Amino acid sequence: MIRLTRLFARELLDSRGRPTVEVEASAGELTGRAIVPSGASTGKWEACELRDRDSARYDGLGVRQAVAHVNDILRPLLLETDVSDQAAVDQRLVAADGTPQKTRLGGNALLGVSLAVAHLGAAARGVPLFQHFHTLYSSLPPLADRPLPAPLAPPGPLVPPGPRMPLPMTNMISGGLHAGGNIDFQDVLAIPVGAPDYPTGLEWIVRIYNRLGRLLAADGYEGRLVGDEGGFGPRLPGNREAVEYVVKAIEKAGLRPGADATIALDVAATHFWDGNGYRLASERGTCLSSDQMIDRLEEWIDRYPITSIEDGLAEDDWEGWERLTRRLGHRVRLVGDDLFTTNVERLRTGIQRGVANSVLIKINQIGTITETLRAMQLARSAGYTCVVSARSGETEDATIADLAVGAAGDLIKIGSIVRSERLAKYNQLLRIAELLP
Ligand code: PGA
Ligand code: ZN
Repeated sequence: MIRLTRLFARELLDSRGRPTVEVEASAGELTGRAIVPSGASTGKWEACELRDRDSARYDGLGVRQAVAHVNDILRPLLLETDVSDQAAVDQRLVAADGTPQKTRLGGNALLGVSLAVAHLGAAARGVPLFQHFHTLYSSLPPLADRPLPAPLAPPGPLVPPGPRMPLPMTNMISGGLHAGGNIDFQDVLAIPVGAPDYPTGLEWIVRIYNRLGRLLAADGYEGRLVGDEGGFGPRLPGNREAVEYVVKAIEKAGLRPGADATIALDVAATHFWDGNGYRLASERGTCLSSDQMIDRLEEWIDRYPITSIEDGLAEDDWEGWERLTRRLGHRVRLVGDDLFTTNVERLRTGIQRGVANSVLIKINQIGTITETLRAMQLARSAGYTCVVSARSGETEDATIADLAVGAAGDLIKIGSIVRSERLAKYNQLLRIAELLP
């Protein structure tokens, strides 16, 4: 038993210069510290990000209330509890809030505490954080019900064999809400599927990114302007051109598209769903039905080396998602982000309805580490792949790198390979890679 002796939160800034919550948790001399990330293209089912809304400070984006909730409400509640029992700590956090989307105390307040306690738990055990996450994941109680496996993927083991390096899924071209609406789709990404190990994969990714910058500049596009996650943000004529540039960049890097590196898309379709259809600003406001969107995605899979599509349809278009999965689920990863919001209940619904075959895992969509690990456990039990993801608003906090390794995430999506809030994670993965066999 290692007792919590100090819990302290403060407000500091994220990569967009917006306030966020940092929490320190101590047991005697040992301290764990973590900072909460923040999304821009958020799903409506995510845990609440509590903001002060007083226009005087930071245009209402301050997080002093969330900070006060940690210091005034959660601190007295948690002092003297055992920090090595993450599940019990998280259960207390969830109970103290008591609302479905953590609106009372704020998902940002809860997550800051949950992450800081995880760091402290690792320090107290004297193990690296990824090892601690592996222990937490492996000691989750079994699922009460094992849901039917996804129709298109074999069920995987409930407990992964051990920590392992995830494959990076790296942003190359940014659009949508992350880059001022230059193109509709939010990310065109590259995955170094043929790389023998993580360091080599990272080097390939950097090479592809640099070749892409040169290609864009040579064609008169802004080869240096980057979006929130460090991907290039050129004003291309359309979504298709973005994919074509990334394919060309893979070739220019001396790699084989489809064999060495493949393409992933984050369509983030929720954010151009206008209530009637999918409205593509880059195509003069053309409005596509769900089926027309599916046709479009199928045509692209036929034409380009695409192996993963995230949020190809909107967060509440369940019928569309069923048809999307039936049509394309045997060909590519269909990743639910806004659709599932790392929420066990929504994921369970998706599994039962045969929707998607992969889930994006974002810790602040749900608000505690234990709930995050439960979502990964449920996903894996149904054969879904787990893509551990950063947010568009990030910091130097690299917790998700350890989470992805410890809970054996299949892929990790951090953004691009520029901007230090992204590199904090890629570099942490390089350190961890040295420790794994
Ligand atoms: P967000 O973007 O952090 O702005 O939500 C990331 C994503 O959609 O995957
Ligand atoms: Zn997304």
